[in-house]
Amino acid sequence: MDISTLPWWKTAAFYQIWPRSFKDGNGDGIGDLQGVLEKLDYIKDLGCDAIWFSPLYPSPNADYGYDIADYRDIHPEYGDLELFKQVIAACRERGIKVVVDLVVNHTSDEHPWFKASLDPTSPYREYYFWREGHEDKPPNNWLSVFEGKAWELDPDTQTWYLHVFAKKQPDLNHENPKVREEVKDIMRFWLEMGVDGFREDVITYIAKREGLPNGLPLPVGTGIEHYTGLPKVKEYLKEYREGALLPYDAFTVGEAPMMTPEKALEYIDETAGSKTLDLMFHFQHMEADSLLTDWVPLPFNLIKLKRAFNAWQQKMRGKGWNALYIENHDHPRIISRYGSEKYRVESGKTLAAMYLLQSGTPFIYQGQEIGMVNTEFGSVDESKDVLTYNNWRMVQKVRLSEHNFLKIANRRSRDHARTPMQWTAEKNAGFTSGTPWFAVNKNYPEINATAALRDENSLWHWYQKLLAYRKNNPLVLFGTYLDLAPLDPHRYIYVREYANQKLLVMLAFGEKPLKMKLPEGFGNAKLLFSNYAAPETPEDTYTARPYECRVYQVG
Ligand code: GLC
Ligand code: CA
Repeated sequence: MDISTLPWWKTAAFYQIWPRSFKDGNGDGIGDLQGVLEKLDYIKDLGCDAIWFSPLYPSPNADYGYDIADYRDIHPEYGDLELFKQVIAACRERGIKVVVDLVVNHTSDEHPWFKASLDPTSPYREYYFWREGHEDKPPNNWLSVFEGKAWELDPDTQTWYLHVFAKKQPDLNHENPKVREEVKDIMRFWLEMGVDGFREDVITYIAKREGLPNGLPLPVGTGIEHYTGLPKVKEYLKEYREGALLPYDAFTVGEAPMMTPEKALEYIDETAGSKTLDLMFHFQHMEADSLLTDWVPLPFNLIKLKRAFNAWQQKMRGKGWNALYIENHDHPRIISRYGSEKYRVESGKTLAAMYLLQSGTPFIYQGQEIGMVNTEFGSVDESKDVLTYNNWRMVQKVRLSEHNFLKIANRRSRDHARTPMQWTAEKNAGFTSGTPWFAVNKNYPEINATAALRDENSLWHWYQKLLAYRKNNPLVLFGTYLDLAPLDPHRYIYVREYANQKLLVMLAFGEKPLKMKLPEGFGNAKLLFSNYAAPETPEDTYTARPYECRVYQVG
């Protein structure tokens, strides 16, 4: 396999920036593009050569940028188009690709299209789903992902609009050809400016069931089956790909809740000639400690985690390419979930090796590389996320106390991923010279990038070494993948194999000592990575320490 012929995104490592909390460059307490410019070398040194920017566009921030009021501009809080062009140029100088978020399932209710659509005679009416209700009831009983019902009434016209997410995020009607022209035009706008592709927000939600809603029997359940993964999604994506993306050779990664490997291949199979996306962000491995959503916590289950990884590693093989991630702006910090805050660095290293040595394109979320962990909220008022607020509003109806609600939120809120990046041990963790828009985690004197860069055994350096090792390495890129102990609740042991090379990844989960046994065929292996002192040649058996990781290579 000639690696130089691969598309860039197969050998790249991505760094995700959630701009509001990354780095404040002008002292107003909010992260911005000036701050990004200051930190590009940091990202490059880590070994990342692509950036995914969460939304930078003007937005009333009901969902921090995932509610867009203008698709062709930069939020003044973050800078302006000129500054963004400077960021692209500075990235280009460093060999860093730039991918931006494309949020077209919905707009903000403050987008001019939506405002115009309030008038039933406006051509923008058909940009959205405006429907008649049944007396005082909504058109159907669909539920939204972010709050109760998926419909909101406009009191003036007595008609309802669909919002699959929050009220302030009305859904766009992609069945309308004018909307599809807008989407292609938005894509071209950013591609002309020099971006290399898009992360497509909840992209499998962009089609709603035909005939909605009048005349349709009311769905049972949440209605989600009527607005996710419908066949039309692929038709729209094909049009976007052919009409806007292919001429620029643009990259796409689509976000797809509830996605399975089988269904994903319908979008990303490279052998089928009908690919509509390059990569897919699925959620299955993010559910190893919860039931479908982070907000229904369960104890961490390693078997469930491995089942998800194994299925994707095996089923994508030779067909599709995996997107590898364990954190982003929508989930609490991974060490606090699947690892241990007590063994923060050790478990952080194990989790990093676990996913970075698999086949696919890795994504690292800001702060993950220094082992940031969840924060602690003393009251609901301290949180910022619409999902946290909405959940609080809903559980108040069943009289859950704030104390009990916080027990869940303190484990599960998306806010944990959104506290300011911890750069230094100085005031406000060096994130801002002003007052940070969101409280910095109190642990910053210990957990910060400066300390991590200084310590050669830090998690940061571990990430750097793993990324350097996997870069252009055929064993990691293309090797077979085999889980040797899929039903073991505490050990994750997998083997990668390519040509005459073999990689053995031995991971111990949990704080208790664990007996580990070397699988056959690794007697002559050499130690590549370990998070505790370990012998250069493997022992037949050893007792693993908390979250011990040993990685060996043969050949
Ligand atoms: C995606 C985004 C999330 C956002 C939601 C609605 O899941 O990642 O942050 O709230 O879509 O746009
Ligand atoms: Ca700022």
